[in-house]
Amino acid sequence: METVLEAATKEANGTVAEKKPTVVFVLGGPGSGKGTQCANIVQHFGYTHLSAGDLLRAEIKSGSENGTMIQNMIKEGKIVPSEVTIKLLQRAMAESGNDKFLIDGFPRNEENRAAFEDVTKIEPAFVLFFDCSEEEMERRLLSRNQGREDDNIETIRKRFKVFLESSLPVIEHYNSREKVRKIDAASPVEEVFESVKVVFTSKDEKAV
Ligand code: ADP
Ligand code: C5P
Ligand code: MG
Repeated sequence: METVLEAATKEANGTVAEKKPTVVFVLGGPGSGKGTQCANIVQHFGYTHLSAGDLLRAEIKSGSENGTMIQNMIKEGKIVPSEVTIKLLQRAMAESGNDKFLIDGFPRNEENRAAFEDVTKIEPAFVLFFDCSEEEMERRLLSRNQGREDDNIETIRKRFKVFLESSLPVIEHYNSREKVRKIDAASPVEEVFESVKVVFTSKDEKAV
């Protein structure tokens, strides 16, 4: 048995394992409204929002050696190797000073999911899943007007295919572990947020 003094000494030396941060994965097809709703959640519930896509786009802009590879992958709607994305997420988490994160658009495939778990040992508190028809997502993406190179119909179709083939299985994985909180994302922004609020204020979400 460890004495109180030993425990205190360990803590002072920084050898006691730090408390793991709370992570909520925010998933859903391209254009389902993940970024829009995350901004609302940040305002109301004190999370830090980390969009994997935003971090990758910032990495391109920074002129990093991976920039060209990331740019080509995004243009094709393909998923960037986990190693790259996880490093960006870890850095952003460390820099934030917060211990509650909305990780938006990640994990996008099994490789993302398994690698994040391996490297960080973090399990999400739950997974927020924005469910929306392709027809509505396509409409939203084509009128997003943020100058994104991947918001054109050719790339959008590729992104939908990747979502169905690679991202839905991740949602299924968490669904079978009862971690998925599914939100109908087809209604107007304010209505979707009402459903989101119910999840974040639920007494069942102990980790939140
Ligand atoms: P994601 O991050 O999932 O790709 P965004 O939050 O960027 O999606 O939303 C995509 C586009 O759709 C944006 O132009 C946004 O303003 C718009 N949008 C988001 N949610 C809704 C909604 N519930 N109804 C209509 N338009 C929406
Ligand atoms: O989530 P968002 O729509 O911003 O993602 C844009 C693109 O960024 C994806 O289509 C994909 O090419 C890349 N991405 C990725 N891995 C992630 C998230 C995004 O490769 N986990
Ligand atoms: Mg987004």
